[in-house]
This record gives sequence, structure tokens and C-alpha cells, in this order.
Amino acid sequence: MKVEVKEGDVTNFAAPLLVVNLFEGVKHPGGATGAVDQALGGAVSKALAAGEMKGKLGQTLLFYTYEKIPAARVLVVGLGESDKFGPEEARRAAAAALWAAEKLSIKDMATIVHGAGIGGIQPQSAAEATAIGSLLAAYRFDRYKSEEDRTKPRLENLTIIERDADKLAAFQSGVKRVEAIAWAQNFARDLVNEPSNVMTPAEFANRVEEVLSKAGAEVTVHDEVWIQKKGLNLMWGVAKGSATPPRLVVIRHKGAGDKATWIGMVGKGVMFDSGGISLKQPQGMGEMKGDMGGGAAVAGAMLAAAKLGIKRNVLGIIPAVMNSPGGRAQNPGDIVCGLDGPSVEIISTDAEGRLILADGLSYARELGATYLVDIATLTGASVVALGTRVAALFSTDEKLEKLFMDNVSQTGERLWPMPMFDEYNKQLESTAAGIKNTGGRHAGAITAAKFLEHFTDSKPWAHIDIAAKEMTDKPYSCYRKGATGFGVRTLLRFVEKWEV
Ligand code: BES
Ligand code: MN
Ligand code: ZN
Repeated sequence: MKVEVKEGDVTNFAAPLLVVNLFEGVKHPGGATGAVDQALGGAVSKALAAGEMKGKLGQTLLFYTYEKIPAARVLVVGLGESDKFGPEEARRAAAAALWAAEKLSIKDMATIVHGAGIGGIQPQSAAEATAIGSLLAAYRFDRYKSEEDRTKPRLENLTIIERDADKLAAFQSGVKRVEAIAWAQNFARDLVNEPSNVMTPAEFANRVEEVLSKAGAEVTVHDEVWIQKKGLNLMWGVAKGSATPPRLVVIRHKGAGDKATWIGMVGKGVMFDSGGISLKQPQGMGEMKGDMGGGAAVAGAMLAAAKLGIKRNVLGIIPAVMNSPGGRAQNPGDIVCGLDGPSVEIISTDAEGRLILADGLSYARELGATYLVDIATLTGASVVALGTRVAALFSTDEKLEKLFMDNVSQTGERLWPMPMFDEYNKQLESTAAGIKNTGGRHAGAITAAKFLEHFTDSKPWAHIDIAAKEMTDKPYSCYRKGATGFGVRTLLRFVEKWEV
């Protein structure tokens, strides 16, 4: 889908569909919507008076214009309550309008920017939200569907119309920026949506290498021989049960000078998590193809950083493995020494994410990263605690934690801080090795984070547990059912805002 910004007046713009908006409870719309209402002889106000639409967020109502204005149809989209309005609401309104247009098989649509007027958000931020909400909503994963399904009409052109010529330049640069971000996020969604018979560690590495190196990042891929030689034994222990070999993907974006520090981002790349010898229950196991959502988020954020030329040095590390039971699989009770940090007694082979991340964090430090962030679909316990829309944030550094929390209002990717008290380490004590890889039923998301902390060498570090946020089972925000790309914008914004 192409997004353009054009100068124009809504009552004088020719398009098959024109999108305007209103807040909940408004009886007589103003601004662009008011102008359209007037031109249509009060049709919108009448519908409002009749109670056909309340302006709830994402609610839509269609009008035919009978040539009273050049646009053939007008779609009014609700923005919800004005005091709850922000960038996320603007994105959702844009997504709702796009989905409504698709149902009408419309190929070209014009829209005003959601929320720049009485919405009270910065015009540029509103334009970005309108564009990215549309671009994320337009995404589909249909490469395995029938020809008929794949060629169904879809929106091809979105034109953002703005009357004020002074705003055009800012809107245009905003649109260019979010086009790059949406492209990167949708790339991450493709990686997650692909099933594990296609998205093997090698395939993941190939796709990341192809797309990211074209965008200007430096990508190195290490194979199973290198991984064993290097001593990434915690990672190898997880990988070795599968006939499909692992890869370690290393991405560098050098946007700052030689003296600048490196931020290391590590993403969990379990292409499929069967649980290994500690085999999972079959119900819902297919969702574990998304267990590389953290790795996909790192790849997406690195892609956007490279494309946008962000002036920071960023290192992305993705241990990519398949967690399978098999004749060569590791067993509960095994003791493994990774690249660095304490030796680990494997209690459950299903607590595999922390094992590969441990080696990923150690290796990021070895390569010179002094600030560490990891992102992973790590624990069911985090889903029990926070549900499927909010990710758990853990950090040993107040500045890092605050920066992530401050970004939530912009990204709409919700995070919630969790405690890191040292008492939780008690649950990881092992009689046979340095630590155990599970800490029992209590506080499972926290003990997973405490496990990872052992591999950070006290460097400033944040950990984001995105379990069940990587995919949605029903349409939500700007996403259809399937992969969300959760984390791409959170990580990108962190990299952009981080001062070192
Ligand atoms: N990949 C899972 C966590 C997960 C759960 C992701 C639900 C997405 C949705 C992880 O590897 C796992 O199996 N964790 C175990 C840890 C336990 C054995 C300590 C869990 O949460 O049950
Ligand atoms: Mn697991
Ligand atoms: Zn897992």
C-alpha cells in the first residue's frame, strides 16, 4: 500500500472513499467532519441524532454522497472519548477505517489525520499514527492461501489530505519515517507467522541476512559447528535434540563513532518450542511457532534502525534454535556450562529460552555491548500475571526502566515493571551446579528474569517478557489474527532515545 500526503480540502477532494472522524458524544461535528456534514446537508448530524453512531473508538458509519462532494462515499470513524485519546487511539481509528474500506473492496482512500485538531496530539505525531495504523492494519499473511484468496481486492493507495500547507512537509517526513518502521514491523510479523517447517533457524538467518544487509546493517551467521567450538553450550544443549541445526545471528548497526558505546539487544529465537524431553501438553502447542517473537522483534528493530540511519551503535544477537525431543536431546538433570556465568542444572528442558538467552547475553558482552536488553516469549507465568496485551518489564537499572516506561504512551506497546528482589535467587539454588534453570511454580516470570541476571555481569540491563504478545488470536489494535510484531517499536524507540 502506498501512502501519500496531499494538500487539499475534504469537501473538494475526489476519491472513492473519504474518511473523517468524530469523538464520542459529539452531536454537531466541527472541523473537517463538520464541513463534510454541512456539504451533505447535515446527514452526519442526523445519523448522530438518530443514535446510529456514538463515536466509540473504531466504530464506523458509511454515507453515500450523491455527488454533493467529489468523494463518492464518506466513512465516519469514531475516535472514542476525547480525554482518553492519544497516538494509540489514532492508530486504532485508522485501522478500523482501513478494514471497513477493505470490506467495501475499495482500492483508493483519502483520510484526514486523526487527532491533530481537537484531538490535541502533535500534528506530526497524529500523522504518523494515522499512517502507521493503516500500514499495520493492511498487513496480511496469506502466502499459503488459495490464489482466489490472495488476489482479493485490497487497498492500494492511501492519501492523507491536509488543508494547511505549512504542515505538509512535516507530515511527509513523518509518513516516510513510519513507512520504514511499519515495513520493519511487518517483516518481523512474517518471521513469526511462518510455520516452523519453513522458518527453521537456517531460514530465519537467511531471511534476516538478506533483508538487513540490503538495508545497510552488517549480518554474520554462525552455524552449529561454530556454536559448539565457541562454547555456547547452553544454546547447544537446547539445539542438539533437533535434526534441524541452530544458527547464531549477529547483526551490527554502526550509526555512531568508534568511541561510542554499544547497546546489545538479544532476542529469543526458538523456532518451535515443543518443550524438548520435558514435552508440552498438545493443546495450543502450535502457538509455539511464535516462540521466536523476541528474535523477530530484534531483527525488526535492527532493520528499522538501519533503514532510518539511527545514530547509535547497536548490536543484535539472535540465538535461533528448535527445541525438540530426540535421541540426542538434553535431559532433565544434565549440567551445562555456557560461555560465561554459573554452571546450570537443567531441571526442565522446557525452560529453554533462558538458556539460549544466557549465552546470547554473554556473547553480546564479549562483543563489547555495555548496555543490554533482551526480549523473549519467556514464561507462561508472565501471561498469568499480566495477560495477553501487557508485557513484563524487568530491569537492574532505573534509567533504563524509566526510558522504556516513558515510551509506552508513544508505541502503544504496553509494559509493566516487575520486581527483581534478590530473595528470588533462593528459588534457583542448586545442590549440583551453580544455579537451576527453573525456580518452581511461584513467581515464575521473576525467577526467569533472575536467572538471566546471572549472565549480565552487572551491566545495566533490561528484560522484556512478551509471552503471548507475539501473536493475537483475534483482531486487536491494528492487528488481524496472527503475529503482532510486538517489541519492534519499543526497541527502536529505546535505541533512538537512549543517551550514552
Ligand atoms: N515458550 C514458553 C513460554 C510461553 C508460554 C510463550 C506461553 C508463549 C506463550 C517457554 O519456553 C516455556 O515453556 N516456559 C515454561 C517455563 C517453565 C518450564 C519454568 C513455562 O512458562 O511454563
Ligand atoms: Mn519452553
Ligand atoms: Zn519457549
